[in-house]
Amino acid sequence: MIAILGAGAMGRLWAASLPAHETAFVPRPGQTNTAPVHFHFQEVDGQSRQVTVSWLNAADTPALALVTTKAGDTLDAMEHLTNWLPASTPIVLFQNGLGSQQAVAERWADRPVLAATTTEGANRPTPDQVVHAGAGETWIGPLTDSADQKLYAVVARLSVSGLSIRPEQDILGRLWKKLVINAGINPFTALLDCPNGDMLSTDLYLSHIESLCTEIANLMNAVGRGPADPEKLRENIEAVARSTARNTSSMRSDVLSGKQTEIDYINGYLVRLGQSRGIATPVNQMLTEQVQQLSSGEQE
Ligand SMILES: NC(=O)c1ccc[n+]([C@@H]2O[C@H](COP(=O)([O-])OP(=O)(O)OC[C@H]3O[C@@H](n4cnc5c(N)ncnc54)[C@H](OP(=O)(O)O)[C@@H]3O)[C@@H](O)[C@H]2O)c1
Repeated sequence: MIAILGAGAMGRLWAASLPAHETAFVPRPGQTNTAPVHFHFQEVDGQSRQVTVSWLNAADTPALALVTTKAGDTLDAMEHLTNWLPASTPIVLFQNGLGSQQAVAERWADRPVLAATTTEGANRPTPDQVVHAGAGETWIGPLTDSADQKLYAVVARLSVSGLSIRPEQDILGRLWKKLVINAGINPFTALLDCPNGDMLSTDLYLSHIESLCTEIANLMNAVGRGPADPEKLRENIEAVARSTARNTSSMRSDVLSGKQTEIDYINGYLVRLGQSRGIATPVNQMLTEQVQQLSSGEQE
């Protein structure tokens, strides 16, 4: 049995992709409605099927747990999850950005905690519909000592889904690479309310990207994730923005649907890291504050 904490787009993608009856969603504390969850799942090739997933019950002892909550919900949600899990059950964190993974790994340092980063894309246009919008790759790697020996078994277990899963020893390095791209695309597209490619020619982007990349490179060099070259970081950001030119970033999508964004774990994480290292991050701070204001409706 694989427990999935967070029955949103990503959690449902895994539930639909793993063998039927092998997964169960973790209920919230005090949840009374335990009727199975039914939803339509649209595959990448456009075919649709109905999926049914039960809720975990007290008699279940999951062999694996996937955590697919948003970064800001994860630490609290995990408190409840750990009551259900044997101490040896591997826990795989799927959050974007950085900060929440380290917080979980510190809080449960004795448990096998792994992190994943994925380029799979899933969305939920209506509550009972999930669209697998783009096939990608998922890398999984250990965050705590006891996770090391579980890595290959976890990858094998999840590979049954048919999704492409790979082991990655330096998962924090891979999360950092994704963080750079997210920090350079997400806030601009959310503030400008535009698809990824359209930000590249705007004043907001052009007047801040150089300083933003310098701030990120300074941080990466300070925490041993270098050597990082601001020019190269900018090239990487722009290559992804061009190759996903018509896509809507998750942050823009969250703002448009009135949901909490993950800015505190993307540019906000970089601001906190800068504060702890004495490195100035005024552009990251400005972007974080503006997106926070946008999603709290203060700019309306
Ligand atoms: N979707 C993608 O394509 C994709 C791709 C790469 C990475 N990711 C990352 O994966 C994570 C999840 O993304 P998502 O798109 O699946 O978000 P989402 O659709 O908002 O799903 C998160 C789910 O977690 C649930 N939740 C929140 N707190 C909970 C708690 N305490 N106990 C149980 N469930 C709880 C939410 O319930 P409510 O709806 O009731 O609040 C929601 O169903 C994010 O960090 C995201 O950046 C997503």
